[in-house]
Amino acid sequence: MEYNRHRMEDKAELEQVKPILEGYRQERKNLIPILQDIQEKLHYLPLPAIIEVAKFFNIAPSAVYGVVTFYNQFRLIPPGKHRVKACLGTACHMKSGELVLEAWERELGIEVGGVTADREFDLERVACVGCCAMAPVAVVDETVHGQVTPTKIQGIVGAIKRGDSHELQKDKE
Ligand code: FES
Repeated sequence: MEYNRHRMEDKAELEQVKPILEGYRQERKNLIPILQDIQEKLHYLPLPAIIEVAKFFNIAPSAVYGVVTFYNQFRLIPPGKHRVKACLGTACHMKSGELVLEAWERELGIEVGGVTADREFDLERVACVGCCAMAPVAVVDETVHGQVTPTKIQGIVGAIKRGDSHELQKDKE
């Protein structure tokens, strides 16, 4: 059953890949822009899309896969429902950003680049998000959280799980 559901998702995703490919010439310089467009559309790069791109360029899927894994801008797994971006730009790094990132990993039970088993959260490490005065910073969905500490992380995750937007809003202020 699970297998069939995935096959249906694959089909729907491929339908979205085809028009993207049609907008490009079969020139190797277009490989990365195509992958970026697909990721923008699907939020990740599923294997069937990688195979389709390989067919388009008439190259081995492993060659496309190699490019995808070389650049950390590309995701091979679907993102979580809530996206946590922990900033590790210079200012955040100086304010114990690494320790804060580890606290996110502990709280969510995943490593950077991972997604929780219930697909509720994913965790990314990003460069400066432009709020250095609030370092260390994390952006959760569209909300910027400053002076993030392990205790604050528990509060943010708890508020999201409870669907408590008031609590999150308070934190934002
Ligand atoms: S370095 Fe984190 S917001 Fe600038």
